[in-house]
Amino acid sequence: MIRNGIDYKPFYAIMREVVPKARYREMKQYISHSDITVYRHCLKVAYTAYTLAMKWQIPCDVRALVRGALLHDYYLYDWHDPNKGFRWHGFKHHRFALANAERDFFLTKRERNIIRSHMFPLTFWALPRCREAWLVTLADKIVATQETAKKYRT
Ligand SMILES: [Fe+2]
Ligand SMILES: [Fe+2]
Repeated sequence: MIRNGIDYKPFYAIMREVVPKARYREMKQYISHSDITVYRHCLKVAYTAYTLAMKWQIPCDVRALVRGALLHDYYLYDWHDPNKGFRWHGFKHHRFALANAERDFFLTKRERNIIRSHMFPLTFWALPRCREAWLVTLADKIVATQETAKKYRT
């Protein structure tokens, strides 16, 4: 479980704790960007945030980092469906994700901040207040860009 000098054992341990719970797998039904499911997107964001933290040796609460990242898009609906009335998805989904995550998991303050602020600076009023939240908002943008770019590749 060591890749490029990084030990991913803690990452997978936390992942195995979250993924079987509640409605987590339901995210396999929803599409994030391009043809990527929200489930895969969340896993990728968590993996990327963890990789960045390890690579840059940023001291942080690894458990909060991974759990917050895994739950950052736990909004549980298809935002592409115009009939469902999920308008302003970009500005609002962090609130739905947080409400669902609070209902289904016991969250720490840090984990709540990660989910709430991951769209920063689009949602400029929800500020990342810890290193973990900054890492997840960065990882989310990296992964979203990769997923969107994939769509335009031939
Ligand atoms: Fe998001
Ligand atoms: Fe995301």
